[in-house]
Amino acid sequence: MKIIVQSSFKIKFIGENMPKINKYIDIDTVEREAKKDLIDRHSPFIHCAETAKAGEPFEVTVKMGNEYTHPDDFDHYIESVSLFNGETLLAKASYVPGTLGNVKAHNTTTFTIIPTSKKLKLVAHGYCTKHGIWESTPVTVNVEA
Ligand SMILES: [Fe+2]
Repeated sequence: MKIIVQSSFKIKFIGENMPKINKYIDIDTVEREAKKDLIDRHSPFIHCAETAKAGEPFEVTVKMGNEYTHPDDFDHYIESVSLFNGETLLAKASYVPGTLGNVKAHNTTTFTIIPTSKKLKLVAHGYCTKHGIWESTPVTVNVEA
């Protein structure tokens, strides 16, 4: 016996949307406590010196959350932290859930970069598996020759 299945498909192209990027808002301007918590614990904060030396290692620490810590649960955690110079990706750190154990700690990543340009415009992204991508405020670093 021979079975012939015929079908016709209408193929509709659905373009992939650019992911939404949540930008940092100063939580002192936010009234609802729950919203402050949500924004703060998802926001990457860049900590580094104001000036760097060209051709020498320069440490940039990205800390997720300033006042509030983010969960580190199996289904809800900070999966990655990325560091950009302008729109150029410099480095990315990936995490698995449970890295921070049961301790209420901020996800903290230190990147070592070697600047070659006169200025760095550092921007960090943090990716939460439940709440998406969050962007830091940019930090400008002057690079001395
Ligand atoms: Fe989250």
